[in-house]
Amino acid sequence: MGISLGLVGLGSFGSQFAKLFKAHPDVDRIALCDSEPEKVKKFLEDPFMADKVNPADCYATLAEICQADLDGLVIITQPWLHAPQCIEAMQSGKHVYSAVPLITIPDDEETLEWAAKILQTSRSSGCQYMLGETTIYRAQTMFCRRMAAEGAFGEYVYSEGEYVHDVDGGINGGSNLRKVLEHRTTGVIGSKYNALMEAYTQRGKFGTPMNYPTHSIAGPINVMQTRALKVSAYGTPNSNNDPYFKHDDFTNISALYQLANGSSLRISELREVGATSIDRDESEIFRIFGKSGSFSRNVWQCNERSTAGTAKPIMETEPYPQNPNWPWKGFKQMSAEEMRDPLPQEVQNQFKLIYNPNALPHDDFQPQGHGGSHPYLVHEFVNVVKENRPPLLTAEESVHYMAMAVAANSSARKEGEIVKVQNLQ
Ligand SMILES: NC(=O)c1ccc[n+]([C@@H]2O[C@H](COP(=O)([O-])OP(=O)(O)OC[C@H]3O[C@@H](n4cnc5c(N)ncnc54)[C@H](O)[C@@H]3O)[C@@H](O)[C@H]2O)c1
Repeated sequence: MGISLGLVGLGSFGSQFAKLFKAHPDVDRIALCDSEPEKVKKFLEDPFMADKVNPADCYATLAEICQADLDGLVIITQPWLHAPQCIEAMQSGKHVYSAVPLITIPDDEETLEWAAKILQTSRSSGCQYMLGETTIYRAQTMFCRRMAAEGAFGEYVYSEGEYVHDVDGGINGGSNLRKVLEHRTTGVIGSKYNALMEAYTQRGKFGTPMNYPTHSIAGPINVMQTRALKVSAYGTPNSNNDPYFKHDDFTNISALYQLANGSSLRISELREVGATSIDRDESEIFRIFGKSGSFSRNVWQCNERSTAGTAKPIMETEPYPQNPNWPWKGFKQMSAEEMRDPLPQEVQNQFKLIYNPNALPHDDFQPQGHGGSHPYLVHEFVNVVKENRPPLLTAEESVHYMAMAVAANSSARKEGEIVKVQNLQ
């Protein structure tokens, strides 16, 4: 028997996941919830959804769907709502999937309080908490996790992660942050945003781009399975009174962390830069350097030193890109297909039908959405619920991302003073 899931938040991003959850072969029943009735109606009336959705399973509020008999809730609502909503869902006995981040609000102490409450509630309710971070299932991250498991990086030395999304980027396609803010702050729920932000401003609480830190931090921390100990960070403020940034101290922030594994990590969150943010493979990116192997821009490079002893580094010989006559040992340009982990064939077969209803079993499946991560996030959450096991990105690791962000904010506000990262375990 399959599982039952409720989808809460069918807006711009949530609607990209509805058909994937419906198509998964281990999902029997889908409930829908949004405070905007037309967003629910769109999926209720979609023939693709018909065999797993029925009108009695449609809701307008989180409180109502929490009363329903469902195994899990997928919460893809506005970012300042995630933590309280996930707590309410777990308290009603449901496993939860949360859109990133754990929460985005301008009050760092409050952020840490919510993070601690997420951990406590997951433990006391016995419900799993999965943060739906797309970087965790990018092809690059899957490949680096396999290399890390083999010990092929050797001793870690240095890594970088960044999320570059200029406020005016995406005007020729992709996501434009001014438009995103506009649609998230309209409607029954969204229209409460301005009053909420004004209350924080009155209390002297301002945000930074680190309040949305998961795309940049997740790659290096998840691959290396380590924790940050302390940080020194710097930020740059907006200087032309741009109303988009009226609730922010900084529009760009960069942080250098000391990690528990002895290496250092540079994280940058940039929102006011001369970058278009169209190519997400360039704007949500990480690099990891170890003493034996390194990964950067889809290239794996290694030497024959291995601190793990049993590791078998990829020592293929490939032409050096700038000079095809120059064979380059220990250098491998990786394609997305080579880097990805496989999805089970029966799952691929169902997902294929979303994009092409006439797809045949032998047709290729091309994973889509944020570097092909969306189908993997869906498959992982379905299995987390089915097996009642912690997700690959655990609740503990998810709260650590927020602790890292809060420490960086604190350091940047003190001009780079070294700040300890709180241990929220
Ligand atoms: N790469 C990524 O991981 C990525 C990319 C884009 C967006 N996101 C995240 O996805 C989330 C959603 O973004 P979006 O652009 O779809 O927002 P959106 O405003 O388009 O959609 C949110 C929806 O949630 C509904 N909602 C909120 N609270 C509700 C409640 N209590 N009951 C019923 N409905 C409720 C709203 O009515 C709205 O339709 C954001 O938090 C964002 O951070 C992540």
